[in-house]
Amino acid sequence: MSVQREVKRITVPVIKRMKAQSEPIAMLTAYDTLMAELLDESGVDIILVGDSGGMVMAGHENTLSVTMEEMLHYVKAVRKGVNRALLVADMPFLSYQVSVEEGVRNAGRFLQEGGAEAVKIEGGRCVAPLIKRLVEIGIPVMGHLGLTPQSVHLFGGYGVQGKEAEIAAKLKQEAKSLEDAGVFSLVLEKIPARLAKEISENLKIPTIGIGAGKYCDGQVLVSHDMLGLYEKFKPKFVRRYAQLAKTMREAFINYVQDVKQRDFPDDHESY
Ligand code: KIV
Repeated sequence: MSVQREVKRITVPVIKRMKAQSEPIAMLTAYDTLMAELLDESGVDIILVGDSGGMVMAGHENTLSVTMEEMLHYVKAVRKGVNRALLVADMPFLSYQVSVEEGVRNAGRFLQEGGAEAVKIEGGRCVAPLIKRLVEIGIPVMGHLGLTPQSVHLFGGYGVQGKEAEIAAKLKQEAKSLEDAGVFSLVLEKIPARLAKEISENLKIPTIGIGAGKYCDGQVLVSHDMLGLYEKFKPKFVRRYAQLAKTMREAFINYVQDVKQRDFPDDHESY
C-alpha cells in the first residue's frame, strides 16, 4: 500500500510566524517549471517570479522593459512546478505606478490567471494606498525597499542605498509605512547590514535581505546568480553555489566535438 504524504504548504501566515519563531526564510527566484520543481523539492520557502527574469531569461539590459504579459508567462510556468513553497509574482514597471485601479487589476491577474499567491511591489510610502487596497481585497503583498531596480535611472546605477543618515532615516520610516499599509514581508536590497538590522528589529513582519547582511529574517538571491549561470556581473553579495555556465559550456563543446567526429550517437544510442 502506498502512503501518500501530505505536503505542508507554506502560506502567508506561515511566513509571518517564521519570524516570531526565529526561523530564517529561504527565498529564490524561478521563471520556468523545471527550476520551480527543483527549488520546491529543495525546501525553498518562497519562490519569487522576479522581474529579474527580463534580464536572465530574456536578455534585457535592466528590468524596466519587462511587461505584464512576459511576467504572466513566467508565473504560469512556475505555478506548474510548485507544490509547497509560497509563490510570489513581481509586479513589473508601469503595471502599478499609474493608478491604484490599474495596480489592482494587474495584481489580480497574477492570482487569477497565473496562480500566484502574493505579489511583490517596489517602493515606499507612495505605493501604500495600493497596498492597502490589495490587502483589503485579499491579495497579500510583499514590499521591496533599498536598491529598487526599477528606479535604476533615478539612483544613477546599482549602488548601495542608505549609507547617508538622511536616506537611512527615510528607509526606516518607509519600512514602517509599508508594514502599516499591510505588507506581510519586506525585501531589503543592497543596504548596509546595520541599517537592515535596525529595520528588521523595528518591524513585526519578516524582512528578506539581498545584499542587506545577516540580520534580516530571511535571504533571497536570483537563482541564476547563485548557480553561476548569469555571468554578466556578480555583485559582492552573491554566493555562487555552482558554476553552471562553465559546466554547460563544457557539455556543449563536448557535444559539438562528438558530432563533428561522428562519435555521437553510438550503437547504444541508436535503434
Ligand atoms: O526581480 C527579482 O528577482 C527581485 C529579487 C532580487 C528580490 O526583485
